[in-house]
This record gives sequence, structure tokens and C-alpha cells, in this order.
Amino acid sequence: MAHSLTSVLLWLAIHSVLSALAFPIDPEGQTLLSSGHGRKDTKVLILGGGVAGIIAARTLHEQGIDDFIILEARHELGGRMMSRSFGVEDSKWMVEVGANWVQGTQTEAGPANPIWELAKKHNVSLHSSHYFGSVSTYDDSGPFDFQDTFQQSIENFDKLTAVAGARVPNRLVDMTARSGYALSGSRPRSRYEMAAEYYQFDWEFGATPEETSWLASSWPRRGAGDVAVFPAHNNTFLEFSRENLLSVDQRGFKTLIQAEAEGFLTEQQVRLNATVAKVYTSKKGVVVTLADGAEITANYALCTFSLGVLQHDDVKFVPPLPAWKQEAIHSMSMGTYTKIFLQFPENFWFDTEMALYADHERGRYPVWQTLDHPAFFPGCGILFVTVTGDFSRRIESMSDAAVRAEILSVLGDMFPNATIPDPLDFYFQRWFSDPLFRGSYSNWPANFLSEHQGNLRANVDERLWFAGEATSKKWFGYLHGAYTEGEDIGLTLAECIKGGGCFGLEHVERVRNALPYDVE
Ligand SMILES: Cc1cc2nc3c(=O)[nH]c(=O)nc-3n(C[C@H](O)[C@H](O)[C@H](O)COP(=O)(O)OP(=O)(O)OC[C@H]3O[C@@H](n4cnc5c(N)ncnc54)[C@H](O)[C@@H]3O)c2cc1C
Ligand SMILES: *[C@@H]1O[C@H](CO)[C@@H](O)[C@H](O)[C@H]1NC(C)=O
Ligand SMILES: *[C@@H]1O[C@H](CO)[C@@H](O)[C@H](O)[C@H]1NC(C)=O
Ligand SMILES: *[C@@H]1O[C@H](CO)[C@@H](O)[C@H](O)[C@H]1NC(C)=O
Ligand SMILES: *[C@@H]1O[C@H](CO)[C@@H](O)[C@H](O)[C@H]1NC(C)=O
Repeated sequence: MAHSLTSVLLWLAIHSVLSALAFPIDPEGQTLLSSGHGRKDTKVLILGGGVAGIIAARTLHEQGIDDFIILEARHELGGRMMSRSFGVEDSKWMVEVGANWVQGTQTEAGPANPIWELAKKHNVSLHSSHYFGSVSTYDDSGPFDFQDTFQQSIENFDKLTAVAGARVPNRLVDMTARSGYALSGSRPRSRYEMAAEYYQFDWEFGATPEETSWLASSWPRRGAGDVAVFPAHNNTFLEFSRENLLSVDQRGFKTLIQAEAEGFLTEQQVRLNATVAKVYTSKKGVVVTLADGAEITANYALCTFSLGVLQHDDVKFVPPLPAWKQEAIHSMSMGTYTKIFLQFPENFWFDTEMALYADHERGRYPVWQTLDHPAFFPGCGILFVTVTGDFSRRIESMSDAAVRAEILSVLGDMFPNATIPDPLDFYFQRWFSDPLFRGSYSNWPANFLSEHQGNLRANVDERLWFAGEATSKKWFGYLHGAYTEGEDIGLTLAECIKGGGCFGLEHVERVRNALPYDVE
């Protein structure tokens, strides 16, 4: 063991020396930064125009710094707040292929979810969503009542978090949520138990209990629906309410961030259709090269690309990111959450908001959600099914026609007496394959330690900064995580600029601390 660890470290050291040699200096970048008496095109380049990028820009603006440019590859701002017009000509609806819920609003005593505040400010239509209280259950022979198992899975999740809560004050080490489930007495065996567990776990985290930290998944950061069961450590951690509000706004959920952006951004401060290919940094500043070859110079860059983009080397950093940063990037993981939309000429399915299907294979087309419901878009004929993790990656590699055929066959099993019409429209977003995202949102695995978290968030030297949902210790994965990071990192950067330079956030060169999730 000791021997192999030493060789890995040695390899890492050699590797980083070699990669540094491969890019000794970037002649172009050097020249650009030295010419024109060090004048830059702008003070700050904000890379990416999602929630984190826009809120960082707003924070700089509020701090009196307006000399920044947002570079965004897509034709619009919003990032993973992504809406799409779906359906046939006379029945088109704006559906959310990305984020859809405001997860947590406000408790009497606590702070408000800033996403909820923005939704109210910009009149975004929201509707409460009862995803624990309005669920029909099916298996491959049709409707099949396993509500007892479903209720038990809610209790199992609460037990999981309660037992984790008890470990935190004792500073016991982290494990996977699978170990946590087993130690707290939940060991799913039947397909019904597995489907019910999936609904509680994978459907939220976009990953399996095996892939996820027990302690991090137990932090009640999310609105957990309308269940009045509180984990043992609720008072310390729970901040927002447990209410989940689904956007039903026909301008799209993205309206909340696009309208906010319109309130302070000028045309000169945003470049759309601008794909970043390379980020060169030196002591003197930053040069960003776009896919079309254009170069933009700045004093600072704030990178808000998803963790998936950083993990897949879609953007080249020169010099390469230091070893401590790369280790942090590859210790956190990216989940995938895929909603597959179908529109039918008529509604032949359940009256509840949700349905859970227990297949023989865990994670095979398990969670169904209707939009054709009095609370949402009555008469729309739209039903969608969500898959996650490996199953998402599996269907992304298949043709639309093949995925559609599988889904129609599952619907045939769930509704044996219905004649299932041909869908009028069909769509799913391939989040994992998309070079602008490479997954849906980040997920904390058992091997990701507090110090890795600090390193994922820390700036690299003075010039290169990072923010996004994945850098949030508390709210990683959520819109409000992207928001609070845009704000916090934006503020730190503003202080740095106003102070004429800074050291920035601390990082550790070598992560040695194996203590668990360190929650203040
Ligand atoms: C399917 C799905 C469902 C979700 N559901 C919810 C939910 O219900 N509630 C919730 O709170 N959260 C949800 N989330 C998570 C939420 O959407 C994210 O946490 C949040 O939007 C992330 O914002 P961000 O600014 O950190 O990153 P992003 O939104 O990814 O912003 C980064 C931007 O960088 C751009 N970019 C990437 N590469 C380049 C490049 N090379 N050059 C230029 N630009 C580039 C991207 O286009 C993007 O606009 C969901 C996410 C997904 C995908
Ligand atoms: C971005 O590209 C899209 C299509 O590729 C185009 O319709 C749009 O006008 C472009 N926007 C800008 C600001 O260049
Ligand atoms: C939101 O709606 C209210 C009432 O419907 C209206 O008074 C207000 O002007 C609207 N605000 C915005 C930003 O559209
Ligand atoms: C958790 O919260 C509930 C409701 O506020 C409260 O009744 C309960 O005592 C709390 N439990 C703990 C352990 O703090
Ligand atoms: C389907 O029809 C058969 C025969 O009429 C009936 O026995 C069965 O209960 C029906 N199943 C459902 C799910 O309605």
C-alpha cells in the first residue's frame, strides 16, 4: 500500500513537471500581455453566463466595478436554466429540460432561498409540487400497490440522515451512502424496495448511494417535500423550508435570471456565441482565446464552467492547472439527470402528479411525472420520465428512436389495458455528451474531503478564479448554490481588485486530512 502510494505521488510529480515543460510559456499570450503598456481589453472576464456568472457580474457591478465582460458559448444567458418549446403546432408548451424547482423557500426564522426571492421579483409562476404525497405505483404487470414500501423508503432516508448526523459531532469518517443505508438497517432486496429507494436517493442526487457520500447526502439542504419527518440534526442545518415549487412559467424558468441580468448588464458587457477554447494566465494577466481564434485580454478571469467541463478538458488551461486543483476537480463527481418528454394526443395515465415504476433493473425508467394535471398544464398531453447516472449515459449513446421504443414498451407494461397512441413529440437533452456541461450537476462522493472542497473553490494564483454550483460547500448541485457562489466569489474578487491585488482564498498543496465533512 505505502509503496504504491509513493509511486502514485512520484508519478504525479513527474507528470506535473512534464506538463509544465510542455507549455513553458505561451509566446502569443506573453506578447499580448506585454504590448500596449499592459492595457487590457477589460478588467475581469467572466467565463460562462449561467446563474453563477450573472450573479458574480451583478456583485461586481454593485461594488462599483463595471469593467467586465461575460463570455457565453450559447445564444442566450441562463446556462442550466434551460427551457424549450415542446409539442405539436397547436399545443406547444415551454418545458424545462434543466432546472425546474425552487428547492426550499423560507422558514419563519430562517433566511430566504435567493432563487425564490428572484422568482418573486420577476413574477415567475411557480406551483407547489407534491412529489412525496401524490404518487401512483406500477410494475411490469400494470398498477401495483407498493405504497407501504414507498413510505418505508422515506423513513429509511430519514434514518440514513439521522445516523449520519450522530456521526458528525464525533468526527467519524465518511463512507458511501450505501454503507450508511446498510448500517442504519436499510438493505433493499426486492425491485419495489429498490425503486422506492431510487426515488428518495438517485432521483435527487443524479447518482447512486454507492457513488455518494453518506455525510454530504445527509445534510438536509433540499426541500424534502411535504413529509413532516425531521432528521435528528434539523435545527443545526436546515435553513430554507422544505417546500418545492415547480416553475410553470411559459416564458421559461430562465426568465428569473435573464430578467435579473437585463436589470444591470449593458450590451458591451456580454458576448454570446463566444466559446472559450483556451485560458492563458501569467503574473501579468489573462488571455482568453475563443474557438474562432479571437483573443481577449484581462486582469482577471472568473471561470464558472460546470465541473464536468473542467473534468473533460474541454477548455485548455495554459499553464495547466496545478496538481492540487486537478485533484480537487477529479475527486468531486458530476451526476446526470435526464428528463425524457413525450406528448400524446390524449391522457391515458395516472391522476397523481407522479408515478413510480418498479422494473427488474434498478433505475430503468423509474420516475414519471405528468404535466397534464390541473396544477400544471391541463390538456397538454405531456408526460415525462426521468433517468439518472449510468442509465442516462446509456440512453445518450442510443438513437432517439431506440429510446422512444423502450419507453413505449414500458408504458405498455404499466398500462396493459390502454391502447397507447404514437407520441406526437419526443425530446430529451443529452447533458452528459454536451461539451458545455458534461453532466447535470455535481455530487459529493465519499472520497471528496473538506480540503478538496476548499481547493475546488480556491483561486489559482491571483489571476484565475472559480465559482459555480460545484464550488458551494453547502448547496452544491442547486441553483441557490450557483447563486451564493457567484455572490461570495464575486465579492472576494471585488475586494481583491479594489485593494490593488491579493492572495485570495487559501488552498492546501496536499490533502492529508481524512476527517469527514466538516460542517460549521
Ligand atoms: C436536468 C437538470 C435539472 C436540475 N434541476 C434543478 C432544480 O430543480 N433545482 C435546482 O435548484 N437546481 C437544479 N439543477 C441544477 C442547476 O441548474 C445548476 O446548479 C445551476 O444552474 C448551475 O449554474 P452555474 O452558473 O454554476 O453553471 P451553468 O449554468 O452551467 O453556467 C455555466 C455557463 O458556461 C457556459 N459554458 C460552458 N463551457 C463554455 C465555453 N467553453 N465557452 C463559453 N461558455 C461556456 C455554459 O453554456 C453555461 O451557460 C438542475 C440541473 C439540471 C441539468
Ligand atoms: C448567436 O447565434 C445564433 C444562431 O447560431 C443567432 O441566431 C444569434 O443572432 C447569435 N447572437 C449573437 C449575439 O451573435
Ligand atoms: C408582477 O405582477 C404584479 C401583479 O400582477 C405587477 O404589479 C408587477 O408590476 C409585476 N412585476 C413585474 C416585474 O413584471
Ligand atoms: C426538529 O424539528 C422539529 C420541528 O421544528 C422539532 O419538533 C424537533 O424537536 C427537532 N429535532 C431536533 C433533534 O432538534
Ligand atoms: C385489464 O383488463 C382485465 C380484463 O378486463 C382486468 O381483469 C384487469 O383488471 C384490467 N387491468 C387494469 C390495470 O385495469
